[in-house]
Amino acid sequence: MNISIFDNEKLAAAALARRIAVRLKDQPRIVLGLPTGRTPVPLYRELVALHKRGEADFSRAHTFNLDEFVGVPPGQPGSYRRFMQEQLFACVNIDPSHIHFLNGMADDLDAECDRYEQEIHRAGGIDLQVLGIGTNGHIGFNEPARELIARTHRVQLLEPSRKSNASLFGGDMDRVPREALSMGMATILQAREVVLMATGKSKARCVNGVVNGGITTRVPASFLQLHPRVELLLDTPAASSLSS
Ligand code: GLP
Repeated sequence: MNISIFDNEKLAAAALARRIAVRLKDQPRIVLGLPTGRTPVPLYRELVALHKRGEADFSRAHTFNLDEFVGVPPGQPGSYRRFMQEQLFACVNIDPSHIHFLNGMADDLDAECDRYEQEIHRAGGIDLQVLGIGTNGHIGFNEPARELIARTHRVQLLEPSRKSNASLFGGDMDRVPREALSMGMATILQAREVVLMATGKSKARCVNGVVNGGITTRVPASFLQLHPRVELLLDTPAASSLSS
């Protein structure tokens, strides 16, 4: 695993945004895998700034988001689709038909998961997958468990994940969905390149587990140790528990 440590989250985000802008130039049809959450917000801000300066052209790129809540309409506050629209898609020149998202309102959720896998396959696979990480080591919504699931699937959300998403629902836990759809571990690990962003002290313990711990379903992100091209992009607080 390559590890890059920055003084603060803004510098980490700026470095990744610049890299993505270069990739957009070199490979305009790049397929990006994207996360939601607090962590990528500075990344999206930097990408929007680069786009406004004419340095990031999304017109031919495709995006696939990692996950979506079940039962929240895409335009409604709380949905990851709406989050992405506000943070990135509405502010850059991406072709709306190139935005790929799981539909948590689908009548047949299992068929929806299959459709997403096929769509990723048809797009030629994911070139660069950006990830955040939950404090419990989850990636996407692949929660710690005795067994992990390879492909895009339905997930029962654990309470820590529901709590950390409560702000999207006005802090009202009753409104936070209990289920989501998520890319699976193999879907993520098949990306040609993976960059995991982790910022803030609350991520320090799980980051150390990912880097120095064994590969375990109890820390889903630890499976990234098996990937040949993975980079951890950290700020100093998130790197503070790394044993040397
Ligand atoms: C969320 C998302 C993950 C995200 C993680 C961390 O629940 N499903 O994709 O990486 O939790 O979120 P944050 O960046 O807000 O800490």
